[in-house]
Amino acid sequence: MAQDALKRLAAEAALAYVEPRLTREAVVGVGTGSTANCFIDALAAVRHKFDAAVASSEASAERLRRRGVAVLDLNAAPALVVYVDGADEVDSRRRLIKGGGGALTREKIVAASADEFVCIIDESKLAPALGAFPLPVEVIPMARGLAARALVRLGGAPEWRQGFVTDNGNIILDVHGLQIEDPLALEREINNIVGVVCNGLFAANAADVVFVASPRGVTQM
Ligand code: 5RP
Repeated sequence: MAQDALKRLAAEAALAYVEPRLTREAVVGVGTGSTANCFIDALAAVRHKFDAAVASSEASAERLRRRGVAVLDLNAAPALVVYVDGADEVDSRRRLIKGGGGALTREKIVAASADEFVCIIDESKLAPALGAFPLPVEVIPMARGLAARALVRLGGAPEWRQGFVTDNGNIILDVHGLQIEDPLALEREINNIVGVVCNGLFAANAADVVFVASPRGVTQM
């Protein structure tokens, strides 16, 4: 089965999980990326059942609006009933690496604003340990060199994602080769580097539920 079809399956499973939580006042947090796009498309079919969405990127906000879903600024929204998003890597404790699409900071903010974080992936994203996928780190542009040197001291090989600017006007360093034995400790350590805005480890706020799609069906972790 093609990966796109698996992403759609995971998105449909998430919608079935989310639908009973929807009320006319509910606001739904929506992530970024190709799997999140599948969720947006599924969610649009039930747009009459909830009030609005908060998006983790300008691209997702645009896609939601085009499908007739009202989009709120997070500061104007009540607590979100749920946040649904994809991931680049997921371990058995539902800890994640995210940010392949560069939206990690807003993703972390919107996820933290939701009562529940539902992650949707195809089975290729499952990993015995995090770190094979280069860890995205959002950095203030003038701190690029400073932050890169600190990341090297942590054992990583940072690579500047050339030509990419985040929705917040910052740059991304993709850090290769990290041995991530303690995701929570590393998440905190990287966040303490001066000039780092946020990193793509989601350990402090791991997913509450993960739907994993494979050719055998969708399982819940
Ligand atoms: C974007 C993300 C995405 O969730 C992650 O990159 C997965 O994307 P896709 O669903 O396209 O594989 O973190 O910043």
